[in-house]
Amino acid sequence: MTNTLTLIRPDDWHLHLRDGDMLRGIAPETARDFGRAIIMPNLVPPVVTAADARGYRDRIMAALPTDADFKPLMTLYLTETTDPADVVAAHAEGLISAVKLYPAGATTNSDSGVRDTVNVMPVLEAMADAGIPLCIHGEVTDSAVDIFDREAVFINTVLDPLRRRLPELKVISEHITTQEGVDYVMSARENLAATITTHHLIINRNHILVGGIKPHYYCLPVAKREHHRLALRAAATSGDPRFFLGTDSAPHSDPNKESACGCAGVFSATNTLSCLAHVFEDEGALDILEAFTSKNGPAYYGLPLNTTTITLQKQANPVRFPAHIETGEGKVTVFDPGFPLHWRVI
Ligand code: DOR
Ligand code: ZN
Repeated sequence: MTNTLTLIRPDDWHLHLRDGDMLRGIAPETARDFGRAIIMPNLVPPVVTAADARGYRDRIMAALPTDADFKPLMTLYLTETTDPADVVAAHAEGLISAVKLYPAGATTNSDSGVRDTVNVMPVLEAMADAGIPLCIHGEVTDSAVDIFDREAVFINTVLDPLRRRLPELKVISEHITTQEGVDYVMSARENLAATITTHHLIINRNHILVGGIKPHYYCLPVAKREHHRLALRAAATSGDPRFFLGTDSAPHSDPNKESACGCAGVFSATNTLSCLAHVFEDEGALDILEAFTSKNGPAYYGLPLNTTTITLQKQANPVRFPAHIETGEGKVTVFDPGFPLHWRVI
């Protein structure tokens, strides 16, 4: 039986760090175990220009513990008025690693997002020329489309047409939640990869809705039926280099989650690696975990692997994680996988 596991220091290819007191409260949770993370730009107001990204990067650096071995990989929030030259210059100077496309209204703080991809083609063409990756929140916002179908409809009506029109654009289909998402990535010959969250490997929609509503399991894209979860587990544990970890760890204070209109987001930074080791062990795939957390992402983004390692140890007694992280903006509930965790980063 394997009791210790040493991995190249993992990266998180999709993370929400927020700002101010929330940032200061939760940044150490990721910096403890991760080397880098793609930082989501959906602040209020969003991180739209290179100047915004520079300021936000500096605030993140200031919020990290002084001995942190962590580098934020900044992104810009794509709007219909984004200046292609600003994006290209920000990438050329090493300030940003990607651009994020939110369909307007799809999720938290996405109102300034894209209504029609036709309106951002000049930016996307400039990005394709310069080799700048596009991270996509892949859900349609049409109120006539059922929320559980929004990812599959997006693939057919937005993502596939976009990729046919601009095959040179390097795309990351973020936090996929469906069999269709997995199949679409596997059908692509190049320039498409996907991130998968920790929680979508563990929960299906029953976890949110059966036996009372569980707001801390609500996120977007919302967890789907069990067969979709199984498809995600198969993809993540396959070792296919097109799938890698993006936790989408997204803190909201407990009052904002436990509300008549609760915010979307699961906060998993604190115990994500313990959860993943449990999942990969369950699937007989502990030998694949490092590819998922530490190798496939840098390879797709064209970045070097981290040069340090972390070690996980399996202990007989369950690991005790805090139920909440205290922040200056209130308590944030840590993801509860619903089973005891025995793996611990030492
Ligand atoms: O659940 C989510 N929370 N999904 C998103 O796309 C945004 C995120 C957030 O910012 O809270
Ligand atoms: Zn997100």
